[in-house]
Amino acid sequence: MRPAIFSHLLIAAEVAGVVFAGTAFAETVDAKKLLVDARAVFQPIATPPAPKDPVQAARVDLGQRLFFESRVSADGNVSCSHCHLPDRQASDGLPKAIGVFGKENPRNAPSIFNAALNFKQHWRGDRDSLEEQAEKSLLGPASFGNPDHATAMGKLKEVPDYGPAFAKAFPDDKDPISAKNWGVAIAAFERTLITPSKFDAFLAGDAAALSPQELAGLRKFIDTGCAGCHNGAGLGGNSFQKFGVVEDYWKETGVGTPDKGRADVTKNDADLYVFKVPGLRNVAKTGPYFHDGSVEDLAKAVKIMGRTQLGASLSDQDAAAIVAFLGALTGKVPANYKGPGEP
Ligand code: HEC
Ligand code: HEC
Repeated sequence: MRPAIFSHLLIAAEVAGVVFAGTAFAETVDAKKLLVDARAVFQPIATPPAPKDPVQAARVDLGQRLFFESRVSADGNVSCSHCHLPDRQASDGLPKAIGVFGKENPRNAPSIFNAALNFKQHWRGDRDSLEEQAEKSLLGPASFGNPDHATAMGKLKEVPDYGPAFAKAFPDDKDPISAKNWGVAIAAFERTLITPSKFDAFLAGDAAALSPQELAGLRKFIDTGCAGCHNGAGLGGNSFQKFGVVEDYWKETGVGTPDKGRADVTKNDADLYVFKVPGLRNVAKTGPYFHDGSVEDLAKAVKIMGRTQLGASLSDQDAAAIVAFLGALTGKVPANYKGPGEP
């Protein structure tokens, strides 16, 4: 007997199989086959359960406080959330992020939602873990701008209630307010920031979760070859690839001085213009796009990807369908993504 889920899909497939005559999307999508194809390359995500272990729960709570704490920065104005804003799906809307004393970062601030799924952190993968990323941010000249970890921790120690909060989260440590524990607590918080979307309902078997246009976009995304790099649970975040497989990227994005990407990190010519493939969850809300924020419009970014990565010229209609599908990857801002005590 056919599992119930498939008979449900067959009905949806009939609905989606209608040809949308007279619309821009004269596209017939077999939703059942699409689900099989999608499940072969993507995995669904789910909101993680709240930690049962009291120490782990204390780390998540502390990490949340620290993420929204600006007193730790050199000018007192910059918290992690300064560049990873709740109303911008944890990105900042700028081409390049601005840190302490108005200093510009060399690259665009990605969303940190679902960053826990990434195999490495940062565009060039120069951070191995969320812990390392958070710890090193303290010293970044264009992020927190502290001269050393002791200075940064000194500022936290001046805030009276951090003593007990760190002690609760790190009960075995003699001197719990440390840069290492700052990283551990913030990473514990970031691991809670998983944002399931309509696409996950689709992957779970609800073919009606996606509109006909979103289904057409998903079909196009797979058939064009986008999923060759943007795959897995994050639709990316799991490999390094050259930006410009077929064509130099700067000719398409129009930037004057191209970022050499991972080659500057590894000093290896084979890594010239190689970047981490970014995850595409929430991408509709996190423009401007690419490592340098050089492209404002998502449809334009999609067309550039087609040309630079696959040698494919996507029509306006195809790009619009892919953009509709990418919109279905927008999840809810997690309830704890705000400063403690904020409404
Ligand atoms: C001044 C702005 C700014 C501040 C403050 C800031 N970030 Fe970021 N964040 C960025 C930029 C820019 C990048 C990309 C850096 C790169 O790839 O070279 C980034 C990247 C990241 C990433 C990697 C995401 C990915 O997909 O690769 C994580 C995780 C992250 N930040 C978390 C944090 C945390 C935690 C803090 C606080 C400890 C923080 N950020 C503070 C701007 C900022
Ligand atoms: C060969 C691997 C590869 C293929 C195929 C590929 N991409 Fe990408 N994609 C990347 C890399 C690498 C980047 C990061 C580029 C950079 O450095 O800014 C990226 C970036 C993006 C971005 C910008 C994300 C952001 O947060 O700024 C979007 C959107 C995107 N890709 C969509 C697509 C679409 C749609 C397709 C198919 C038409 C596609 N990609 C095909 C590797 C690939």
